[in-house]
Amino acid sequence: MKHLIDIKNLTTDDINQILARAGEFEKGIRKSNHINAHVATMFFENSTRTKMSFEMAINKLNARKYDFCAQTSSLNKGEDLYDTINNLSAIGINAVILRDSSDTLIKELSEKKYYEPISFINAGSGIAAHPTQALLDFYTMKKHFFDLANRVIVIVGDIAHSRVARSNIELLKRTGAKIRCLAPEYFVGEKIEGVEYYTDLKIAFEEADIIMALRIQKERIQEHVNFEDYIKNYQITRENLPYAAFLMHPGPINRGIEIESEVLEMQNAKTILTQARNGVFIRMAILDMLLSAQGL
Ligand code: CP
Repeated sequence: MKHLIDIKNLTTDDINQILARAGEFEKGIRKSNHINAHVATMFFENSTRTKMSFEMAINKLNARKYDFCAQTSSLNKGEDLYDTINNLSAIGINAVILRDSSDTLIKELSEKKYYEPISFINAGSGIAAHPTQALLDFYTMKKHFFDLANRVIVIVGDIAHSRVARSNIELLKRTGAKIRCLAPEYFVGEKIEGVEYYTDLKIAFEEADIIMALRIQKERIQEHVNFEDYIKNYQITRENLPYAAFLMHPGPINRGIEIESEVLEMQNAKTILTQARNGVFIRMAILDMLLSAQGL
């Protein structure tokens, strides 16, 4: 593994190794020291969980962290992003964690030549992929259920604009889980093979083991959305949440839209902060593997 761009580039062995290492970091039985590694975070879209947990992971691995600030950088003088990163490579940056609104930019950047080897880690690319989120979600689900084969997993909400949904589906398809997507027509987007689509919440939630709510991506939606209609038919409430279902959400949550506020106090929703916590261990594992592969 040289980069982490998309779940579809990972072998089953890569995924198992990431999960195993994350488990060792969580238990405190793996201690890695990457004192000679220099890692830059480049976030061109807002973030709380991904950015802070990557920063925590870098610190815990004893690597050096550099927060690239686009506003004060020479990108504002018209420098090309490839030239910027090539200069970071020459300065001594070994890995770049990138979040951007483009579906394809990180892949294109990772295929170019640099002054020194540099690893790219996708921290969210457009609506295409959010592989570290899918891996931390998978880690969280597996810790609870161990085997996801035949488990019913319902992904609810703005599937059309969700990189989280796309990466999770890519990963869950390998497990034998029964993947259901529940969304109104205006949030379905392009249908994905191997997924069952529902428009009726009651039917979709039947026998659900896991319900994964998605944020409505207001910043990516061009057309008018009838939020009242969405809340009436798709909001997760105390009444419609199955008693034993495990409730997940990648965050940030639009309280009172995707999920009724009171539901967040229920036992079912405790998972949501566990997802955020597990993000640190997964990101430590990924950085540990990529930096070790560079001999750092
Ligand atoms: N889940 C997620 O990507 O959250 P942030 O946008 O806060 O990083």
